[in-house]
Amino acid sequence: MSDIAYVDGAFVPRAEARVSIFDRGFLFADGIYEVCAVLDGRLVDNGPHLDRLARSVGAIELPLPVSREQIVEIERALVARNGVSEGLVYMQVTRGAADRDFAFPENATPTLVAFSQKKTIVAAPAAQTGVSVISTDDIRWARRDIKSVALLAQVLAKQAARRAGAAEAFMTEDGFVTEGASSTAFIVTASNEIVTRPLSRALLPGCTRMAVLRLAAERGMAVVERAFTIAEAQSAAECFFTSATSFVMPVIAIDGRAVGNGQPGPATRRLREIYIETARATAE
Ligand code: PDD
Repeated sequence: MSDIAYVDGAFVPRAEARVSIFDRGFLFADGIYEVCAVLDGRLVDNGPHLDRLARSVGAIELPLPVSREQIVEIERALVARNGVSEGLVYMQVTRGAADRDFAFPENATPTLVAFSQKKTIVAAPAAQTGVSVISTDDIRWARRDIKSVALLAQVLAKQAARRAGAAEAFMTEDGFVTEGASSTAFIVTASNEIVTRPLSRALLPGCTRMAVLRLAAERGMAVVERAFTIAEAQSAAECFFTSATSFVMPVIAIDGRAVGNGQPGPATRRLREIYIETARATAE
């Protein structure tokens, strides 16, 4: 983690970055977050991330304590102060500190915190080799379209993945993959269709997902939005997942079974290249 964080209007050293134990983010996970990639010291797909932040806070009737323009200023200040060339900016807004009571407090002030992290995304070795994933039951709540900080189900899913030597967990419900623990799941079929689940309350509307689908369609690649099973993904030509912190990540095995020839596939490689090229050209 980098050195300077943002807490409620002030830039402070990481060791001094604190919020109250009465903060409803801490007590109830009553809060929303966003993660935006940084490439060449600039923000990738920040517009869609801020749109989704606005949508998420609206869904839980949480007013943003600062304007959209101020959020961009905070993000840019963190990138500059911490010298982040490649990595991410994390933002979180909660309903603030108040006496513990489930219903909304009358007069709490929302808490806004943000920090940056340096991370190698483009030249990540995993993107060259591909990664393994496991499958796990999707035990989350029914509003997964809201980017809530209530992430315990994903914490458990990722820990199960790590124990199995895998990088991600594909979560399933009623026999179909909803999404990755912190990513959107895709397959490429034998007939070269790029398949991902349609948006609904069952999954987060991924900003990287949106960009990849658009870029694929613009290049004449066939895109199909439908649900798929783990068995279909295991026998697909290719599999990958997308997120702000991994871009397009090839999946080479699911629950120990190789996908395709067990190496990152050509469509996945191409989409990763196109996404990175576009991200570099449009980051701001
Ligand atoms: N997670 N689905 C879930 C459940 C996620 O948590 C994420 C991202 C995505 C991909 O969304 P996007 O392409 O907008 O990053 C899908 C971030 C990276 C995180 O929690 O760290």
